[in-house]
Amino acid sequence: MFDLRCIKCNAYYPPEERIYTCPKCGGLLEVVLEIDKITVTKKELDSRWMGVWKYREFMPVSETARIITLTEGGTPLHVVSNLREDFRVKELYVKNEGANPTGSFKDRGMTLGVTKALELGASAVACASTGNTSASLAAFAAVARLSCIVLLPTGKTAMGKLSQAILHGAKVIAIEGNFDDALELVRQACDEMNIYLLNSVNPWRLEGQKSLGFEIVDQLNWDVPDRIIVPVGNCGNSSAIWKGLKEFHAHGFIDKMPKITGIQAEGAAPVVHAYRDGLDDVIPVENPETIATAIRIGAPVSAPKTLQAVRESGGVMEAVSDEEILAAQRLLAKREGIGIEPASASTIAGLKKLLESGEIDRDERVVCVATGHALKDPEIIIKSSPAPITCEADIEKLKKVVAQLL
Ligand code: F0G
Repeated sequence: MFDLRCIKCNAYYPPEERIYTCPKCGGLLEVVLEIDKITVTKKELDSRWMGVWKYREFMPVSETARIITLTEGGTPLHVVSNLREDFRVKELYVKNEGANPTGSFKDRGMTLGVTKALELGASAVACASTGNTSASLAAFAAVARLSCIVLLPTGKTAMGKLSQAILHGAKVIAIEGNFDDALELVRQACDEMNIYLLNSVNPWRLEGQKSLGFEIVDQLNWDVPDRIIVPVGNCGNSSAIWKGLKEFHAHGFIDKMPKITGIQAEGAAPVVHAYRDGLDDVIPVENPETIATAIRIGAPVSAPKTLQAVRESGGVMEAVSDEEILAAQRLLAKREGIGIEPASASTIAGLKKLLESGEIDRDERVVCVATGHALKDPEIIIKSSPAPITCEADIEKLKKVVAQLL
């Protein structure tokens, strides 16, 4: 029913092979589904609960697989009318992935990835992470009773994410280096120590992340938005959304495709540079830096997939500054009551910038993907905001302070 295919040399491999890249040419792998064998209808889908497994027929695991789930997906697609008015754009939505069980979109990939790890007979799983991947893997590995090792860049992982990885029982190793160093190390360790790798270079994980794209069109009553804006780090999410929507298109569920638009932070924007220079892969950025630590990545492994998705769809890549990111985070929180982490806010900042430059038309229907919850990184909120006013425990003094605030 499904195979692995190298996107570079087109070699095919059976699904039982425990490989992450092409053994022949080193290219990225993708899962190929036999879409013409899928018979599920929209009507049938309408009768099911929201969530990743609503789209079971598009999820390549065996009929008898023991599915490890935390009831992920089914996140709100907010109509953000205040922001729409501020930005003077026709239709605007925020897909709130912070509502997932561990507070980020990673759960969509991990339900598939950890289910696959069990299918392949793994007893230990591992990842390198800027934080969210480790939090998610730790939770799913706990349910599956798998040993879990996570490598995090020392001092650069947001507190919420680190505490989740610890809480769910992962063995946390702080690497004296950045995410790119950690990823290189974990890939080698997994190869040499028979541990199953669950970074997004793992093609099975991306199959779960496809559901983000599925849900957006499903929630819009199968009406495809003009544009989906995503934050880009290691390039898993943007390429997974595109792959999923291509499958929906091939199956006849949708008749047009959205423009995939990727946003990076200025200090960590190798994909934006590659896009502008017409390259098929990135030239790594040494020492990437941004307050959006989730996307503080200089050498994204799946960049060729994202570059292809953005170009094929007629989208664009843009970079935004840390100041723009923080301003966008505050704007969404204050205008719409939705708290998202800085990496997610890059999409709002990117939308603003691209509307101002005329790259995005004000007549478009736009969906911004908010990938993670604000509480993932409370420190950045405190650090970038004025300190709370202090007051003695005295009613007269309190009344004076409050009067000044009204
Ligand atoms: N937004 C958030 C909140 C993330 O945590 C990440 C990636 C991205 C966006 C970018 O997605 O890598 O698929 O392009 N976080 C990874 C991690 C790298 O380790 O948690 P991507």
